[in-house]
Amino acid sequence: MAQRSIGIIMNGVTGRMGYRQHLVRSVLALRDEGGVRLRGGERVQVRPLLVGRDSAKLAELARRHDIADWTTDLDAALGDDQWDVYADFLVTKARVAALLRAIAAGKAVYTEKPTAETVPEALELAALAQEAGVPNGVVHDKLYLPGMRKLARLVRSGFFGRILSVRGEFGYWVFEGDGQPAQRPSWNYRAEDGGGIVVDMFPHWNYVLENLFGEVRSVYARAVTHIPTRFEENGASYSATADDAAYAIFELDGGVVAQLNSSWAVRVNRKELVEFQVDGTHGSAVAGLFGCRAQHRTGTPRPVWNPDLADAHDYGADWSEVPDNEVFENGFRVQWEEFVRHVVDGDPHPYDLLAGARGVRLAEAGLESSRTGARVELPPLEAPRVALANGAAK
Ligand SMILES: NC(=O)c1ccc[n+]([C@@H]2O[C@H](COP(=O)([O-])OP(=O)(O)OC[C@H]3O[C@@H](n4cnc5c(N)ncnc54)[C@H](O)[C@@H]3O)[C@@H](O)[C@H]2O)c1
Repeated sequence: MAQRSIGIIMNGVTGRMGYRQHLVRSVLALRDEGGVRLRGGERVQVRPLLVGRDSAKLAELARRHDIADWTTDLDAALGDDQWDVYADFLVTKARVAALLRAIAAGKAVYTEKPTAETVPEALELAALAQEAGVPNGVVHDKLYLPGMRKLARLVRSGFFGRILSVRGEFGYWVFEGDGQPAQRPSWNYRAEDGGGIVVDMFPHWNYVLENLFGEVRSVYARAVTHIPTRFEENGASYSATADDAAYAIFELDGGVVAQLNSSWAVRVNRKELVEFQVDGTHGSAVAGLFGCRAQHRTGTPRPVWNPDLADAHDYGADWSEVPDNEVFENGFRVQWEEFVRHVVDGDPHPYDLLAGARGVRLAEAGLESSRTGARVELPPLEAPRVALANGAAK
């Protein structure tokens, strides 16, 4: 019997995320292992088609990784029924137009976040995908980080009792580009090119908060541009028109208060580039990308405020590491496997374009709050739920 396969149009594979996380760490890693294992134990092989604007770059990538198919003609790829899935890792600005074409062509779609630059566009994508009956998914990678999975384990076990608050610190220093090259593409710092830390990070915060603690019901945010001038790789300066830090308070369903700082202008003084502290009546935890340490109420020290006496207590020693207890694969790859099973077997995949639209809305509301100084309420987002579709793979 011929092996089943699923054809995946991969648009934007010359970019940072498209190349490293989606192509190399996910689709090629799965291909080299023989494909995605389905519920019944059988495998479906993944077949990538590289799409982009620069044929020389695509040809070189295809050669380097032994990939048979590449093209600069997206419409021809979308019109060819050997390809089942359209996957999008383009700059955010170029995303909606490409996704609309893919949905119209009846392809399953899988995309990086944010799904769109505006809420109406994000909702339109969700509604059109539902109408067309195409499976759709949006990257929720932070949920798959080992630290977040351990935190989710604690939440689900009831470890925290009643969860009171979440405080998160995300960020690191992104070099301005003079002297030392910046670690991120320059469009990230130009609002007119779809940049900004709110647009970049709030979609992540939305799915982290709603999947671990409760849907976001309101946001108050202050977004600022701390570094107004940055430098391209060729040394030319440019005006950083987008926010590079955001200080925000989110209120969640059930009354949890989450306060998250996001910044590309902060020097790291914590164990990991992101850390969330969760406090509950019965226990607390601090989770990062990889680690998660917890403190139960029975192990909580009794600090006494005394400005006259230096405090020798080692508060860090009061926390215990949550063990891995499982092997954590690359999160992008795990989500790709889930999405392929969703397309082929109809397994549930709740991280869809409507979830993506909620992320876009949180970013938009955060920027509105920053502009007006007001707290912005977020009623449940009404849009048609997306139907599951079976059998797109051959
Ligand atoms: N999930 C995550 O953790 C994460 C992290 C970083 C970025 N992202 C998202 O991934 C996407 C890509 O970000 P990146 O950092 O890889 O950017 P990048 O600049 O490295 O790559 C962008 C890709 O889009 C292509 N492109 C640029 N302009 C285009 C246009 N006008 N038309 C068609 N193609 C165009 C480029 O050739 C390149 O292949 C963004 O939407 C970003 O928000 C997600």
